[in-house]
Amino acid sequence: MSDQVSAPVPLVNVQVDGVWRQFPKGTRLIEACEQAGSYVPRYCYHKKLSSPGNCRMCLIEMGMPKMGPDRKPVTGDDGMPLINWMPRPQISCAQDVAEGMGVRTTSPLVEDCRRGVMEFLLINHPLDCPICDQAGECRLQEFSVQYGNAESRFLENKVKKPKNVELGPRVTLDDERCILCSRCIRFCQEIAKDDVLGFIDRGSHSVLTAHPQKKLENNYSLNTVDICPVGALTSSDFRFKMRVWFLKETKSFCTSCATGCNTVIGTREGVVYRQTPRENDAVNSSWMCDYGRLNFDYLHSHRRLLEPKIYSGGTLVPADWQTVIADAAGQLKHFNGPQIAIIASGRMTNEELWLTSRLAQSLGVHLIDIVPHRGAGDEILLSEDRNPNTNGARLLRISEEPGARLQTIARAVERGDVKALVVLGENPLEAGISADALSALPAFVLLDLLENPATRYATALLPSAGFAEKRGSMINGKGRLQRLNRAVSPPGQARDDWEILRDLIQAVSGQNGIYTIEEVFAQMSQSVREFSGLSLSKIGDLGVQVMESAESPSPDEPAKNEGNKPESEKAAS
Ligand code: SF4
Ligand code: FES
Repeated sequence: MSDQVSAPVPLVNVQVDGVWRQFPKGTRLIEACEQAGSYVPRYCYHKKLSSPGNCRMCLIEMGMPKMGPDRKPVTGDDGMPLINWMPRPQISCAQDVAEGMGVRTTSPLVEDCRRGVMEFLLINHPLDCPICDQAGECRLQEFSVQYGNAESRFLENKVKKPKNVELGPRVTLDDERCILCSRCIRFCQEIAKDDVLGFIDRGSHSVLTAHPQKKLENNYSLNTVDICPVGALTSSDFRFKMRVWFLKETKSFCTSCATGCNTVIGTREGVVYRQTPRENDAVNSSWMCDYGRLNFDYLHSHRRLLEPKIYSGGTLVPADWQTVIADAAGQLKHFNGPQIAIIASGRMTNEELWLTSRLAQSLGVHLIDIVPHRGAGDEILLSEDRNPNTNGARLLRISEEPGARLQTIARAVERGDVKALVVLGENPLEAGISADALSALPAFVLLDLLENPATRYATALLPSAGFAEKRGSMINGKGRLQRLNRAVSPPGQARDDWEILRDLIQAVSGQNGIYTIEEVFAQMSQSVREFSGLSLSKIGDLGVQVMESAESPSPDEPAKNEGNKPESEKAAS
């Protein structure tokens, strides 16, 4: 880390709606107005993209200091500069604040301009709000309430444009709704580094389209849906499934790779409908990849494990939780430490990993590891490490080098040296253990979300919760501690993993005294220096840096866009 302290940014005086305020030099005028409490409506401006200034919705009145004959600003009684107002309105999204500048955001001229811009934008816009998927989060609807006219003066026929265009596998375009703001074009050029969209034709006939022979299919394509201010770009996965005002929103983060992009999970009545990115400049700027965004369907899979089971009479039979926990503990206690191994997962939370290490201590187990999962990454957001909490497993000493002890575990199981295997959220067949060896194990305790080919060999089956169904914390690849929040309840009798592990520890060793997940974190924070002074609530919505990490490129300055297709498409190609 550098010891250099960057010089403070000088402040400039700007009058916003009659009140003098100070802003750091370089602040965009539209942002300064917002900071001063005067929100300026906008369509094309997005603070993470360049500013072409093409929608004209952000017009304001602007002035510069009146200069005297001595070329110095003329000041008024209050000692502040008098302002020379420009006779024409100016856009506020494409210029920075300057010393002595004046801005009017609510004058009659400004309001008139906004009404005029709205009237132009709506001339050819279809009146399909009742069936438009953007309804409820459409800027055009919102600003129409303030600046739109109830009646149209337009007597001509509206221009017809292409509808229901598949721009790519995940994005659908309705050209009639497009207001030509170019946000989607700029996102693809500047962030995804995939110059795939553009406008063709002139005037009222201008339309957005993909370049010939190209599709909007990069791994960041759904971010264009997020930033499209109207309903022109919609998600093919989410459209027409749920009205957005019915969605309950829960702040969380994506667990599909080590980046941990901050998200909002949209749910209704126990069903996850969508994930959208949440701004966090320390992690993901304002974006997330399509692969992670769409990776939640498995929560509602028919393969979900819904009831705890024990092995009885040559098969797995459902039983209540108390019986299954007691049975699993009994199976494990039957063996001593060296005869037991634990395969944990880098998808587990810190709290779960902490309890796993306590379970290992209670049983005297030393053979323990997590299964590494890797895939193609990119230099934007997607990490090669598909485990979201590898750093947590390292910090909590579950696995210094993920996967390094898996072979030893597999060999010990194959040889019959290990007689009891605990597997948490992984498929042991993928960890190199054969089906024969699994079926020969006297004790195979499996905690998992989904049924897999190894499930049938379990001697105790513990159905657990998915990322959107539980609370807890993880440490991303850059060393940032982040918090998962529960958006929906686990289905059937599935339970929060930390509760299952706590009960198992109690049944094995009789010790416990943990009633809440906060108490688990409190225990960790007393033993792990990096967590000291922290609690789940102190982690906050944006996380806390707890480990040093190498600098990674900012998602706003990506280097290239190779290898960022979703796994499913890579396999197909
Ligand atoms: Fe703007 Fe949406 Fe049209 Fe793209 S599709 S230019 S984001 S209005
Ligand atoms: Fe300023 Fe579009 S927001 S011109």
